[in-house]
Amino acid sequence: MTTAMSGHILVVDDDKAFRVATRTLLRDAGLEVSLANSGAEGLVLLEKASFDLVLSDIVMTDLGGIDFLREAKRRQPELPVIMVTGFGSVETAVEAMRLGAADYLTKPCNNKELLIKIDHALDGRRKDREIVQLKEELQGVYSFGNIVSRSEIMKDVIDQIKQVAETDVSILVRGESGTGKELVARALHFNSGRRDAPFIPVNCSALPENLLESELFGYEKGAFTGAQKQRIGKFEEAYRGTIFLDEIGDIPQSVQVKLLRVLQEKSFSRIGGNEAVSVDARVVAATNRNLELMMRENDFREDLYYRLNVFPITLPSLRQRIEDLPLIAEHFLERYKELGGNVRKSLSPEVLSDMMMYSWPGNIRELQNLIKRAIIKTRGEVIERIELSAEQMEEQSSGPGLSADETVPPFREYLSGIVNNAEEKYIRLLLDTHKGNVNQVAKLMEVDRKTVYRKMADLKIDPDAYRS
Ligand SMILES: Nc1ncnc2c1ncn2[C@@H]1O[C@H](COP(=O)(O)OP(=O)(O)OP(=O)(O)O)[C@@H](O)[C@H]1O
Ligand SMILES: [Mg+2]
Repeated sequence: MTTAMSGHILVVDDDKAFRVATRTLLRDAGLEVSLANSGAEGLVLLEKASFDLVLSDIVMTDLGGIDFLREAKRRQPELPVIMVTGFGSVETAVEAMRLGAADYLTKPCNNKELLIKIDHALDGRRKDREIVQLKEELQGVYSFGNIVSRSEIMKDVIDQIKQVAETDVSILVRGESGTGKELVARALHFNSGRRDAPFIPVNCSALPENLLESELFGYEKGAFTGAQKQRIGKFEEAYRGTIFLDEIGDIPQSVQVKLLRVLQEKSFSRIGGNEAVSVDARVVAATNRNLELMMRENDFREDLYYRLNVFPITLPSLRQRIEDLPLIAEHFLERYKELGGNVRKSLSPEVLSDMMMYSWPGNIRELQNLIKRAIIKTRGEVIERIELSAEQMEEQSSGPGLSADETVPPFREYLSGIVNNAEEKYIRLLLDTHKGNVNQVAKLMEVDRKTVYRKMADLKIDPDAYRS
């Protein structure tokens, strides 16, 4: 053994001479050692302290080594146990291995062999722990249904998802197009007790009025011309699962009425039928439209709005969490690498910096499409060109848009909006190029650190998100 070992070993043996000699040997090798003179005492110690490995005799007077092993593995299945047998009892050794012993040795033990076996078992234990950890990390990512983010603002959104996933309350996911509304709906479903039942998406804007109704609720044979046999609707398909009503702002008035009734009564009947079908589907709806405005203009029913809006989750635009961009871009470069002949491409610093300045009207979906296209078009490994629309780049520096259908803000407010916007871009760009180093940012802006921290707090910028 070239390096000292580390770990806490429990030695169980009713032979005092063996215990003491082994303790000396193991301590010299760098290990921490506890002794038990019987299987019963061994079990007591296992409860009291945490061990990395157990070395146990097989033949002991009270609780035999095999019974001790069985009990120890029952309590701590991951704990490696090396058994020591008196000479000749191969059968017991086989039995021990069958019960999950990590290894076995015959007495009298060769010291070197004993140390090698211990080292080996400890190493296996470390690797097992690493694998468990990696698995947990992977699940962490996966169970958030591919939502990649590191910004504070998305952390809040993810916390909200975690908070309500297990409940049955209706959720309304809001956000500009391409911000990941469907991704959130899926994350809600796959993190709920309904995950083994279906997730049924319905795009409410894709179908004309009468088709949407039969899509949602199904129909009986003969309900209308062409209804040659009974068909169940999406609410029934989503039994015990989740129904995702995408683009809910686009459903026509007549369907709004029917939907409201279904949500209130938790049952409905198929078109042309009168049998009540009970609903057991969690409802997640999504929209990028301004439902409040639609309500005021009587395009969206107020009662339905309140039914759906029990728990709104609003997704920030990509502009509002531009610090997530490098991470999400990496995610897409990896995910779509086969489009570029399985070569993992990367973005040049200039391209990345242009992307950080861009306004992303199409949000993450736009980013996704741009990256896919760039992977296909780029011959080498580094993406040096990306097709951002120049118009959108300029709009960024001119401050918040003004339009006639919204109230025009007071001039001062409008100006400060422009200043904030510019400041935010500037600080984010510096943070990005200097990996979150606030000292550097302060220096380059020729202000003190405190000022930068205050501005970042006002603008909800998290410098940690830039440190990688
Ligand atoms: N945080 C994220 N990390 C990784 N991928 C994301 C993230 N957010 C969105 N995406 C991806 O971006 C694409 C658009 O997301 P999604 O379809 O959920 O958006 P949406 O808000 O429903 O868009 P639309 O309004 O256009 O329907 C999807 O391919 C999704 O996987
Ligand atoms: Mg969508």
